[in-house]
Amino acid sequence: MRRKMAAGNWKMNGTGDTLAELTTLANDHAQAGCDVLICPPATLISRAAERVGHTTIAIGGQDCHAAEKGAHTGDISAAMLRDAGASHVILGHSERRENHGESSEMVRAKARAAWDAGLTAVICLGESLAEREAANTLDIIGGQLAGSIPDAATAENLIVAYEPIWAIGTGRVPTLDQIGEVHDFIRARLERRFGAGVGKTTRILYGGSVKPDNARDIFSVANVDGALVGGASLKAADFGAIIAALSA
Ligand code: 13P
Repeated sequence: MRRKMAAGNWKMNGTGDTLAELTTLANDHAQAGCDVLICPPATLISRAAERVGHTTIAIGGQDCHAAEKGAHTGDISAAMLRDAGASHVILGHSERRENHGESSEMVRAKARAAWDAGLTAVICLGESLAEREAANTLDIIGGQLAGSIPDAATAENLIVAYEPIWAIGTGRVPTLDQIGEVHDFIRARLERRFGAGVGKTTRILYGGSVKPDNARDIFSVANVDGALVGGASLKAADFGAIIAALSA
């Protein structure tokens, strides 16, 4: 019912040389049993899209501006991402929320802009360690979900990514029960807000220190429909192993 997805977020990593990894990935996983999405830095999007144009690998941006165009020096619109060859865009990543002060309201406006440009939004939700230790995880996730996702969500234009901030780049992964609890909660909230059709078919990815050696266990959890991978998406061998775990 929900096709699995392996999504790679290269963050601020990669120059032209790095595209060789993408070529390896395309050659080795032409027949991947899951959807594959790579979100390179903006400077590489058009070159990446050209490299994988003949394959099923999709290319995405890591952020976009909420406005269609205008005086926003240094920013990139959703239509520009689309024009460069992207089909998806990551929005509301915790690094954007923290480093750029992005509120859920801003993320929601960006998602609307992404949809207007025909992009699928990968909207990220996640609690800090302090919030988890204070037993506020579900409140935080519920609030971010309500605030960040516009009303016009469908299973085609939306992918949700649960990324606990304390698991990103730390090697510290929640227990499978903790992952399952949040994914079940997100699923229930999506069903309540958007109805069973959209709620049951929208994909929910897990992100935060996903590696080849823990991927299979994480993917065994109900309502985990794939992964949003940072560090381990930079090397085709590692990301390929994660693709293989999802395709099994
Ligand atoms: P890591 O896989 O490096 O922990 O990063 C996760 C992430 O933030 C993906 O968006």
